[in-house]
Amino acid sequence: MNRPTGSAELNADRLNIHLQNSLRTIDVGRLLGAVINEGLVIALSGQLGAGKTTFTHGLLEGLGGASEDVSSPTFTLIHEYQADRPVYHLDTYRLKSQAEFLDLGIDELMTADAVVIIEWPELVASLLPNDRLIIEITHTAEASRQLSAQASGPHSREIITRWRTAVMDSDFQAGTLMI
Ligand SMILES: Nc1ncnc2c1ncn2[C@@H]1O[C@H](COP(=O)(O)OP(=O)(O)OP(=O)(O)O)[C@@H](O)[C@H]1O
Ligand SMILES: [Mg+2]
Repeated sequence: MNRPTGSAELNADRLNIHLQNSLRTIDVGRLLGAVINEGLVIALSGQLGAGKTTFTHGLLEGLGGASEDVSSPTFTLIHEYQADRPVYHLDTYRLKSQAEFLDLGIDELMTADAVVIIEWPELVASLLPNDRLIIEITHTAEASRQLSAQASGPHSREIITRWRTAVMDSDFQAGTLMI
């Protein structure tokens, strides 16, 4: 089991978590949602079928919303969910240009209070705030998944720190946190 033994081993900007199955993907998303206490932009990457929407189910639940509201925004481009704060879920997979993204009015959505989750963020990365939480979910050989999160500023770093603590507290038996 690969557990941290001291703060010197931690990279405050990064968090890697092994997701054994889809329930764990939901659980880890829920833990993130529960530590978010103000607006945040989340760039959520991963190939088709990686688990991005599954993760968002848990995330919305952790934010105080109803997980069953989540569906893939591939065709509608943007979904708004009811939660303790405004939550917007976007998918840029079908966008052809950054201009189309701006036409969605995204600048007005990224407020101090809102959580904005963007699937396929690569096309629009340069339009997102510098301080955002970058998450990538990848397939592993055993048909489970690996989640890698990276902070890019003080706010996302603070969120990663709280999320790590929440995962470690929830994970004492399972040992899925990787540093
Ligand atoms: N940790 C995991 N281990 C194994 N299977 C998982 C895991 N997490 C999610 N899955 C499964 O992977 C499948 C695809 O998940 P999901 O629809 O969330 O992916 P996605 O990244 O949103 O895909 P798309 O890009 O097509 O929208 C689902 O059947 C889900 O249950
Ligand atoms: Mg999806």
